[in-house]
Amino acid sequence: MHKINIAIDGPAGSGKSTVARKAAEQLFYLYLDTGAMYRFLTFRALREGIPEHDEEALLQLLTNIEFSLVNEGEKGVKLSVNGGPLGEGIRSQAVTEKVSAISAHEKIRKEMVTRQQQLAKEKGVVLDGRDIGTFVLPEAELKIYLYASVDERSRRRYLENLENHRPSDIDVIKEEITRRDHLDSTRQIAPLTQAKDAFPLDTTNLTIEEAVAHICHLAREKE
Ligand code: C5P
Repeated sequence: MHKINIAIDGPAGSGKSTVARKAAEQLFYLYLDTGAMYRFLTFRALREGIPEHDEEALLQLLTNIEFSLVNEGEKGVKLSVNGGPLGEGIRSQAVTEKVSAISAHEKIRKEMVTRQQQLAKEKGVVLDGRDIGTFVLPEAELKIYLYASVDERSRRRYLENLENHRPSDIDVIKEEITRRDHLDSTRQIAPLTQAKDAFPLDTTNLTIEEAVAHICHLAREKE
């Protein structure tokens, strides 16, 4: 048995992060949430007042941010920034609104991709994002394209917000998801698309456990 890398891509709210995290736990793999990296950069840019179109200033900001995977014992391995937690702020509405614009810059993507490749170089990593199977790890041994209907994805985000005591409106979420899907799949650099060799997995009528079991089964066949 040898460890592999698993690329999980798909649109906003398709359940990627929950499924990827749980699959990683079951396989004793690391989990890398690449969306959280773009979200953190956006969070910091908002805090520093850097406009979303200022690519050079954003790149400079990114240079001072160090991402790592830190082993927190029982809590598992967590993505950390400059040694600490990324914080809840990365999930705020303000960040969600701006993140697609900031992540569309070529230089930002190039730098992020290099760092993600670095973090996954020892293998045994489940990465979720938009361009993992197509750009970050085109050689990943297992690629999954996770999707679900817009209604189902909106419903899940709504419930997740309620659970985390965040204010939530399902119609606003649906609009936001549709807008982000459009921006992420029509951008010039590394748009969201299913890799040719990815397994498509429609999670509309699947529970999280079923989706995780499916991915773990595919992974074990490749290990
Ligand atoms: O996965 P999540 O919804 O948290 O990602 C937030 C945003 O980050 C996406 O809408 C997309 O614009 C960007 N992203 C990206 N490439 C990735 C992961 C996320 O462009 N690999």
